[in-house]
Amino acid sequence: MMGTKIGQLLVIICVNISIISAQNNDLTILQALKDAWQNTPPNWGDGSDPCGGSWDGITCTNGRVTKITLASMQLVGDLPGDIGQLSELRILDLSYNKGLTGSLTSQVGNLRKLTHLFLVGCGFTGPIPGTIGNIERLISLSLSSNSFTGPIPASVGNLTNLYWLDLTANKLTGNIPVSNKITPSGLDMLTLARHFHLGDNQLSGDIPPRLFNSNMTLIHLLLENNKLTGAIPSTLGLVTSLEVVRLDRNSLSGVVPSNINNLFNIQQMYLSHNQLTGPAPNLIGMNVLNYIDLSNNSFDPSEVIPPWFSTLQALTTIKMYNANLGGVLPASLFNIPQLQIVDLRSNGINGTLNISSNPSTELQLVDLRDNKITDFIQRSQCCIGLILIDNPICSSDATEEFCSLPQNATALYSTPWNNCLPPSCGAGLVSSPNCRCANPYTGSIFFKAPSFSSLTNSTIYGSFHDSLMTFFHKASLPVDSLSLNNPRRNVDDYLVIDLHIFPDLEPSFNRTGVLALAFAFSNQTFQPSKEFNTYFFIPEPYNFMLAISGTKHKSSNAGTIIGSTVGGCMLVVLFVLAGIYAFRQKQRAAQWSQPFALWDQTSKSGDVPQVKGARSFTFQELQKYTNNFSEMNNIGIGGYGMVYKGRLPNGQMIAIKRAQKGSSQGVLEFKTEIELLSRVHHKNVVGLIGFCFDQGEQMLVYEYIVNGTLKDSLSGRSGIKLDWVWRLKIALGAARGLQYLHDHADPPIIHRDVKTNNILLDQRLVAKVADFGLSKPLSDANSTHVTTQVKGTMGYMDPEYYMTQQLTEKSDTYSFGVVMLELITARNPIEKGKYIVREVKEAMDKNRELYSLHEILDPTIGLRSQLIGLERFVDLALRCVEDKINQRPTMSEVVKELERILELAGFNPGTESSSSTSTSYEGVSKDHNYPSSNDSLFCYSPGSLPPKLHPM
Ligand SMILES: *[C@@H]1O[C@H](CO)[C@@H](O)[C@H](O)[C@H]1NC(C)=O
Ligand SMILES: *[C@@H]1O[C@H](CO)[C@@H](O)[C@H](O)[C@H]1NC(C)=O
Ligand SMILES: *[C@@H]1O[C@H](CO)[C@@H](O)[C@H](O)[C@H]1NC(C)=O
Ligand SMILES: *[C@@H]1O[C@H](CO)[C@@H](O)[C@H](O)[C@H]1NC(C)=O
Ligand SMILES: *[C@@H]1O[C@H](CO)[C@@H](O)[C@H](O)[C@H]1NC(C)=O
Repeated sequence: MMGTKIGQLLVIICVNISIISAQNNDLTILQALKDAWQNTPPNWGDGSDPCGGSWDGITCTNGRVTKITLASMQLVGDLPGDIGQLSELRILDLSYNKGLTGSLTSQVGNLRKLTHLFLVGCGFTGPIPGTIGNIERLISLSLSSNSFTGPIPASVGNLTNLYWLDLTANKLTGNIPVSNKITPSGLDMLTLARHFHLGDNQLSGDIPPRLFNSNMTLIHLLLENNKLTGAIPSTLGLVTSLEVVRLDRNSLSGVVPSNINNLFNIQQMYLSHNQLTGPAPNLIGMNVLNYIDLSNNSFDPSEVIPPWFSTLQALTTIKMYNANLGGVLPASLFNIPQLQIVDLRSNGINGTLNISSNPSTELQLVDLRDNKITDFIQRSQCCIGLILIDNPICSSDATEEFCSLPQNATALYSTPWNNCLPPSCGAGLVSSPNCRCANPYTGSIFFKAPSFSSLTNSTIYGSFHDSLMTFFHKASLPVDSLSLNNPRRNVDDYLVIDLHIFPDLEPSFNRTGVLALAFAFSNQTFQPSKEFNTYFFIPEPYNFMLAISGTKHKSSNAGTIIGSTVGGCMLVVLFVLAGIYAFRQKQRAAQWSQPFALWDQTSKSGDVPQVKGARSFTFQELQKYTNNFSEMNNIGIGGYGMVYKGRLPNGQMIAIKRAQKGSSQGVLEFKTEIELLSRVHHKNVVGLIGFCFDQGEQMLVYEYIVNGTLKDSLSGRSGIKLDWVWRLKIALGAARGLQYLHDHADPPIIHRDVKTNNILLDQRLVAKVADFGLSKPLSDANSTHVTTQVKGTMGYMDPEYYMTQQLTEKSDTYSFGVVMLELITARNPIEKGKYIVREVKEAMDKNRELYSLHEILDPTIGLRSQLIGLERFVDLALRCVEDKINQRPTMSEVVKELERILELAGFNPGTESSSSTSTSYEGVSKDHNYPSSNDSLFCYSPGSLPPKLHPM
């Protein structure tokens, strides 16, 4: 059994550690900490060896103290300077101890090996010591929710390894430090940092233009609720990696720089509650923007609604109250599929309100009070929560429902009882969702920039509940159940949710349970899904910890020693749990790679497939994930059979290709195909998750790509409008995907069926090449194939291949050239008997502007003046469709040229290399190459595990 193995492993590790004892010096320092603090764990001291595993919260390596994690222990006192002598310390987490007060000792600067410093939610006061800049190896610095005063030390700029800087909710003053001739260090030097969280302080002065440069990799810039003045510097537009920008609740003035829409990765942007002037910013092109708040600014009064109101198809929330907006609202605004909240109070919106005949089904609030709206059509279509108070329409006809404030229709979300009746619990106990009385560990979780605004949608909150429970289970934390309550927005516009976490077994968590829970939050080991985005957690003091080892560890009874050792090395346990998790993942992968008893080796099926990372599903599993392959879940038909969408228990959406019975390929072909597909990992290639070879079925399970095919977008079916720059980016993405297949996949792959139907767009409109049903791996030796049967799609097919049946990578280049022409014309390759390649060539006049192609360009591509680089794009496409193979570029040449064109158009093509992005664990931790959607601080990232834990 796995369990016993884990047990043995733990005992071995803990016993090993207990053999080595702390160097006297470290012991002395720990004694000093113990003397300085009240409420240290009861098993601290009385002569035992802290490295023996019997001191809660202390971890040693080779007899030296390497981790102190005492979050949520109700420590009281100050942090003695002696701590600086723990020269081997890597992780220091004293978060959630409100009673830790006084100033932060400058001696922390001596902790030269420290990588993680977490002092979240303590009571520290006074300045952050400048010596903090000496902790060169620091990756994560979280000092949020204290009462630190004074400036941010410029020396923080010396922490070149810093990934996470969180100083939120203090009383910091002064300017944001940037490097200059006198002080050579500042925050601008932190080019590896992904997070600047400096909100809710009293920082003042201008945002220095020097703070931003194109070498930065920031994804979160949070400066909300400070006292910053001056204009938003245009250098902000250089940091194209940004996904969340909050500059709200300051005193910023001046015109928003026009290059703000270079930030095409932005998902949440708050510029509200400032004194910004000039025209309202133009956000066209920010196509992944979910949440925009421009309210309460002094923009120039406008007479028309900005055009981006109806083009940004990812919006859930648009807030622009009191912002001098005028004109008539376009009905298409309400067609945006996930739109939830429109708050445009106190503007000059006039004319007739038209809420379209097909408004977003998620619309919850349309607050247009205090405007100049005179009429309202399509009333029957509209929605809960329309408010038109203080508009002319309500002065003439005040009986309408929308002329009074709506009732609070839906209650805020709260976790429901789990099919039981809550008992009445005595003496301070609380009923869990499972109707058991217990002492929950409670606190509030603060999300600084979620992508949605609904406070009632039980799908969203239910899935957050499930993801947190899944995390607790995977980390083997002793949690029975969890309730979420009262989601709300606070004064900083953070989404706040109260959490009650109920213990397994005991009526209360024990000390190690609390330590583990608290650390999961302070270290951000728990990562919520992308919609919730970044968070911090502040727990209530927990008064119910039971001492677990007490005096027992003096006993020589072996059982007790193991018991207390295991208890005491909770951190090791956590570490090991992380290890076990990774190991289990690996083991699971290993299981998947030996597909199942079902793989009948005696028949002609050959050896078991060698699949890395692809998972084998049973028929029953896939049946469950697709509602029994219901019609609702059917999303298409391919040559291969039906395609279904489904959802894995962890919430991930999948697309399943189910071969028609009878038409399915031979076992050998199927095996070859999954072996091939499972080796392909690239950002621009749809990834295989697994397969099913069970009960006579052959199915391939892929990641589900939400925005459908490029064809659907070009034809207008998907409702996504692609402007020129997006088309360039999509072309580049698809080209990179093909280049990867040709040059980096092992063995190299020729796609053979490149077309706009096989290029999918994800939620951020990143292109992904799909459908390898026809793909052929190239053998190492020769790079040309004579195939017996020519496959592909008419209109995209390389005529040379068609005639000679000789397949090379250049056949994909040809098809890609056709795709490029389709991208600019939105015409089918063969339409009404006309071939797109010939059409373009005939219409073209190289001596004229845009090669005189206006007639056949897709009208929705944008204004002529914005089609920068179009001519080069056409040149490239025509080179791709040259008849002679050797005159066509390779895909890597195509990628380079597209990058140049995108730069010409003023955009950063990104620096992704075309090599594999498969997330090898090692890769993740080594280069801080944290994927933004999953940017964790993992002290316990699988990559940081001691190597000996891997093989087992
Ligand atoms: C930052 O480090 C440099 C050397 O790397 C040093 O000269 C400078 O004094 C440091 N700056 C601060 C503010 O500590
Ligand atoms: C960006 O990095 C390059 C290479 O490290 C350096 O030469 C350049 O000066 C940096 N640019 C800025 C604006 O810091
Ligand atoms: C709306 O107001 C603007 C001036 O602010 C005016 O030019 C326009 O004609 C008005 N539109 C309607 C439909 O009243
Ligand atoms: C709740 O959210 C989910 C997921 O975002 C969405 O599919 C659903 O339509 C929403 N429900 C309502 C009533 O808005
Ligand atoms: C409706 O909700 C608001 C806050 O969202 C609250 O202040 C008010 O009391 C509620 N009204 C009713 C009738 O529940």
